[in-house]
Amino acid sequence: MISFNENTQIFQLDTKKTSYCFGVYNDGFLMHLYWGEKLPVMGEFEQYILVQTKALSPQDNGLGGWSTNVARMEYPTHGGADLRRPAFQCTFDDGSAVPRLRYAGHKITDGKAVLNGMPCVYSEDGDKVQSLEIELVDKRKDLHVFLNYSVFEDYDVITRSVRVENKGPKCKIDACLSASVDLPEGRDFDFMHLDGCWARERHPQRTPIFCGTQTVDMKNGASGHYHNPFVCFPEHNADEDHGRVYSLGLLWSGEFVGGVQMDSYDTMRVFIGVNDFGFGYTLETGETFQSPEAALIYSNNGIGGMSRLWHKLTRERICRGKFRDIERYALINNWEATYFNFTVEKLSAIADRAKDIGLDLLVLDDGWFGIRNDDHTGLGDWFVNREKLPEGLDGLASEINKRGMKFGLWFEPEMISPKGCQLYEKHPDWALHINGLEGTLGRFQLTLDLSRDDVCDYIIEAVSNILNSANIEYVKWDMNRYMTEVGSDKLPQERQCEVKYRYMLGLYRVLETLTARFPNVLFESCASGGGRFDLGMLYYMPQTWSSDDTDAVERLYIQHGTSICYPYSSMGAHVSVCPNHQVGRVTPLKMRGNVALPGQFGFELDLAKMTEEELTEAKRQVEVYKEFGEVFHRGDLYRIDDPMTSDFASMNFVSEDKKRVVLFRHVIATHPSCRFKYTKLKGLEPEAIYVCRENGKQYSGAMLMNIGIAWNHKRDYESEMFVFEKK
Ligand code: DGJ
Repeated sequence: MISFNENTQIFQLDTKKTSYCFGVYNDGFLMHLYWGEKLPVMGEFEQYILVQTKALSPQDNGLGGWSTNVARMEYPTHGGADLRRPAFQCTFDDGSAVPRLRYAGHKITDGKAVLNGMPCVYSEDGDKVQSLEIELVDKRKDLHVFLNYSVFEDYDVITRSVRVENKGPKCKIDACLSASVDLPEGRDFDFMHLDGCWARERHPQRTPIFCGTQTVDMKNGASGHYHNPFVCFPEHNADEDHGRVYSLGLLWSGEFVGGVQMDSYDTMRVFIGVNDFGFGYTLETGETFQSPEAALIYSNNGIGGMSRLWHKLTRERICRGKFRDIERYALINNWEATYFNFTVEKLSAIADRAKDIGLDLLVLDDGWFGIRNDDHTGLGDWFVNREKLPEGLDGLASEINKRGMKFGLWFEPEMISPKGCQLYEKHPDWALHINGLEGTLGRFQLTLDLSRDDVCDYIIEAVSNILNSANIEYVKWDMNRYMTEVGSDKLPQERQCEVKYRYMLGLYRVLETLTARFPNVLFESCASGGGRFDLGMLYYMPQTWSSDDTDAVERLYIQHGTSICYPYSSMGAHVSVCPNHQVGRVTPLKMRGNVALPGQFGFELDLAKMTEEELTEAKRQVEVYKEFGEVFHRGDLYRIDDPMTSDFASMNFVSEDKKRVVLFRHVIATHPSCRFKYTKLKGLEPEAIYVCRENGKQYSGAMLMNIGIAWNHKRDYESEMFVFEKK
């Protein structure tokens, strides 16, 4: 899987279908050579290097006629001849900022160690995994930079992270990206990423790469609604099913930067890592810095092929715990049903109907603690509000349990309300703040300073006390504002630029402790909807509330974009009431169900107000979910009609054993005398016979994939689900 040729000094990292090569050249420069289709036999790269370096005037010392400015560098730095965006930058004690990193050795080992205190792709017994550690040294300052690679052969994934050990005088890291790869022929590729906003998250954007730099980033302490820590680079002509695509995802929930720089020679430098804007990390002698981990996936089966690799990796080697492999709960959440205005009676009435239609769990959302009748007060006071819940959480949980259902609870533990909050009266300094500067409120709240151990310990104990106080089997972990005026009293002046990075380490410690302490509790993350939908969060909590927009049509866009990287098993998706609370749209209950079904399904409306007819349909949806959840959550996704560019959205799932296929198709907008439309399925066995459950007819896989299923749509929001079972 990982080989090193002593003669050529070339490293080759092979997965099942891909190869990734780089070599040591001229006095220790690490040059990138290749990433793409597997190279079964290694030839010589000399010709390739010549082309790379021909167009230069020699600038670097001792490089024998070539310059790092045009060479493809494996982990570039600034201050020598390379004028492009560096992956690593630091300032030394003498004020100089020119790291000169040269190869000093390497180690190849079987398996992969976990990253201490941070999310990472992990291996399990029997996995074909090897790791490589390259040591780079700046001899002048005795700074050691370790590039860590792991190859997950069967997953077609390579992971990368960077550790910095300072054995010399004090220095400050200014940038330390997790991965940077210099690839040829950038002019033939596009830059694709997932952008959005609150309630409009992760809409895919795709633009041709131009000469210059294109980046997406977040600067406010969270991976964010606006951009997502995932970037990919399809060839211009790559579509859902064909063509080459490079992609990089970051296992990090804080601010990040990802993008591409194309130089004048068509080399594209693609990169991802912790945002270097406003970042700085001081290393005293003997101290270490660890970057988050990036995962790298190449596919020549189009964007769909790439997505399926990300989905499998995320489901099986990023998500953890008991809930990774079992079907999770179909739930009812009271948020859109009652908002803050709930009573035990209202919740009990909802629970009665929830039980009737077969739901597993009731979640009590915001408002059950401290003084919390709206979003102005109370965050931080994690003790039950007895006025609202006279029998406490225990009493309410018992009420729900009596009906044979489980009980779940909402928290927003990273926050504090400056008004109506005992915690703030005692510890105003526990909020992130800069002394002498008024803090900006977001949703009337401030962010707790999770770079402090005492604050993290408080959160761990406060949440644990509640979880121990009642039979709580699910937690919704919310986070509803970005960071501003970031500063911490516990860190010295020169370390204030570390606060946001240290905050994430604090949060990860809290989550690691709580999820280990409560292994039978299902955790779902949330950040005003999908404001922190990232691979880092999924390491701790296997599902994320995708968006506060529960409208079926809006969700088609959001879930489509999300699925470019993330599996449906990670997307919380609920049926809500009409007119929809976010956009006022009225869609049929059937469509709302079909849109939510492939995700982690539930309802977010007042079931007690539904008609008998609606309850019958809701019950049918729960039954469908229980029967096919496994297909949606462990099967392969094939996107068919793209809602971003057409009036339709359709997709099919193929179960892991390839025996069951589920097709969903939705009409977003119809037109009079519309064109004939056929939905052509994907990923089937051409020669197999499939029986359609809805009409009892038999079709070959080839027919379903080449002719498709005719679509006689007449109305907006028509929505259908078909099941095909292999004979
Ligand atoms: C934002 C979440 O996204 C919502 O689902 C809900 O939990 C509210 N917060 C509660 O304040």
